[in-house]
Amino acid sequence: MKAIEIRNKYLKFFEKHGHKVIPSSPLIPENDPSVLFTTAGMQPLVPYLLGQKHPEGTRLTDYQKCVRTNDIDEVGDNRHLTFFEMLGNWSLGDYFKEESIQMSYDFLTTELGIPAEKIYVTCFAGDEDCPKDELTASCWEKAGISKDRIYFYGKEDNWWIAGEEGPCGPDTEMFYDTGKPKCSPDCQPSCDCGKYVEIWNNVFMEYYKKDGKYTKLIQKNVDTGLGLERMTMLLQGKETPFDTELFKGVMDKLKELAKVDDIASIRIVAEHMRSSMMIIADGGRPSNIDRGYILRRLIRRMTRHLNKLQIDLNELPNLLDLNIDILKEMYPELNEHRQEIKEVITTEKDKFMKTLNNGEREFNKVINRLKSQGINKIDGKTIFNLYETYGFPPEVTKDLATENGFSVDLSEVDKLFKEHQEKSRMGSDQKFKGGLAEQNDKTIAYHTATHLLNAALKKVVGENSHQRGSNITAERMRFDFNCDHKLTDEEKQKVEEIVNEWIKEDLPVTVETMKKEDALKSGAECMFIEKYPDEVTVYTIGNVSKELCGGPHVKHTGELGHFKIVKEEASSQGVRRIKAILEDK
Ligand code: SER
Repeated sequence: MKAIEIRNKYLKFFEKHGHKVIPSSPLIPENDPSVLFTTAGMQPLVPYLLGQKHPEGTRLTDYQKCVRTNDIDEVGDNRHLTFFEMLGNWSLGDYFKEESIQMSYDFLTTELGIPAEKIYVTCFAGDEDCPKDELTASCWEKAGISKDRIYFYGKEDNWWIAGEEGPCGPDTEMFYDTGKPKCSPDCQPSCDCGKYVEIWNNVFMEYYKKDGKYTKLIQKNVDTGLGLERMTMLLQGKETPFDTELFKGVMDKLKELAKVDDIASIRIVAEHMRSSMMIIADGGRPSNIDRGYILRRLIRRMTRHLNKLQIDLNELPNLLDLNIDILKEMYPELNEHRQEIKEVITTEKDKFMKTLNNGEREFNKVINRLKSQGINKIDGKTIFNLYETYGFPPEVTKDLATENGFSVDLSEVDKLFKEHQEKSRMGSDQKFKGGLAEQNDKTIAYHTATHLLNAALKKVVGENSHQRGSNITAERMRFDFNCDHKLTDEEKQKVEEIVNEWIKEDLPVTVETMKKEDALKSGAECMFIEKYPDEVTVYTIGNVSKELCGGPHVKHTGELGHFKIVKEEASSQGVRRIKAILEDK
């Protein structure tokens, strides 16, 4: 079964069970500074897991594009990926353990045809925060998993939370038995020898963790995640995701072009290329901080390994075209942004090659100096300086140093890097504090206009339209929202009319502080509820808009001027983007 068939089967199955199919959120959660990329299907749904009403109801399903980079250095082995797709279904205070488990069992055995004997499951063993999950185990038994294939583990294996604070709960994980021999008599699903592969995770989210303490949420949710690449690999009986149709075409081409036989490098190139393309298609650009730096690292690493494989870098545009052609059915946004993707990656590659050349010159100077002093070790500070001043990556320094008979002390480099990262993290925390980096009358007016636009879109496009991101400068506002079609001229005109009418009415903008829970209950709109403290500020505009927001805003809508849409375009799949200006009255 191909990946796209698995995706379609999944969405259809849950649709049949009363779930609404919602679009994948972009990889880049524009207004959420807490995470660099979308890392799980539940992430864009946090407000709804906490109790906000979702316009599509209480049963949802989607495929979510995800990027996780904590294991970036592991890519090259047979399983790690930085970009992956997660299939998910959610109950927002609707069904709970019984139904969730029955549906998972049916999907795996009936739709995917996995024999029940190949499925092992794990449940939460219980501790002082939450009792042993006997119910989950009995649901599995009832569904058809025999007792000897049900295991209980503690929080380290069977509890799920994104980070340190947020909605969480015990989970039940499903494992696929590959049929390989046990690595030891004690080998069981928690063992990572490769016999058992985790395929699906159902989280029973009924807790909220804060400051190490757990409290009950106002509703019991289910949050599930199934990794598409892994499932595809298993169903096709392949050893790695790189052997499936998602990567194979590009892997084969790379093998053909490479003059050196190095499977790890070939995987790194194929994986980082896919990841970079996806990030760029969703608006990411290389830079020296945060997300941009991750993208930069991915492209640089890809380039370095292309070099290592002795593949002519002029092949890069062709490789990108090939990769886009392979993936465009699953991710049409790649095709839509083909030109940009090629430009961004090629430009970054060129920059990096310059950096490499300059850095190498500098590196040689250092080496010669050390040699003349009879030293054969490069210390961490020198490696770090080569990085900071010339952008010369430590792993390249290390490779070259070793080739020149030098030893390197990477532990010190790690320490310096951590300090450096901490500094830039603090910098970005600072940047996001309070919402708007740069505030003046114009940006404040635009900020209020985004609330009006958000409310107007709900009237014209429908209640399902929600803010997905925004960006404000003193010259214009940009606003992303979910919507499944290009707005017609009439719709755009209608939106403008409504916003301008509200401006003309000179509605008062008021702010109040309230408990987060009360704010949600009052129906206030919000994008990233978990990032707000317990006490939140809610901005209300007349009786047309109510949103959780850090402000600041104008006092009366009459201050805004004339609202005009200058552009409406696609942002990513299922997400549209409006650029608008406020003209002087
Ligand atoms: N949030 C859980 C995970 O990421 C289930 O979707 O595994």
